Amino acid sequence: MLFKIGRLEEFPLGSATIVEVQNRSIGVLNVDGQLYAILNVCPHQQAPVCRGKVRGTMLPSDPGQLVYGLDSQVLVCPRHGWEFHLQTGKALFGITKSRLLTFPIRVVENDVFVEMKERRGDPNDIAAPSDERGDAPGRLVNYTSEQ
Ligand code: FES
Repeated sequence: MLFKIGRLEEFPLGSATIVEVQNRSIGVLNVDGQLYAILNVCPHQQAPVCRGKVRGTMLPSDPGQLVYGLDSQVLVCPRHGWEFHLQTGKALFGITKSRLLTFPIRVVENDVFVEMKERRGDPNDIAAPSDERGDAPGRLVNYTSEQ
């Protein structure tokens, strides 16, 4: 089901905007022109993860070497610093098997929609139903424009 969350210009480059969809707090991040929609709840201790920084990280490397990578692909939780891959929602380097819940975004004629299942049950339940785990990556798909 598609839920309109705004116009494309409301999500400028580098922004992290929090929207409410079906009583859920969703972070919409524009990273290098790519939009990501992520449930604003860290799987560790439920911090507002979308308030964290987007950056790269230090990659596993040989002793004595420092290798930086994944630039602009990592969301860092502001509470304890756990790192998550923006596209997959997976925690980096196996710190946990839990992952961010991501949602596909669609842009149609400059209207931005987030795609998620219609919620049933307790509207105050912030946890994702188990059948939503592993949704498609939350990146921009099906972009069309009248330009
Ligand atoms: S609450 Fe996000 S890393 Fe702990």
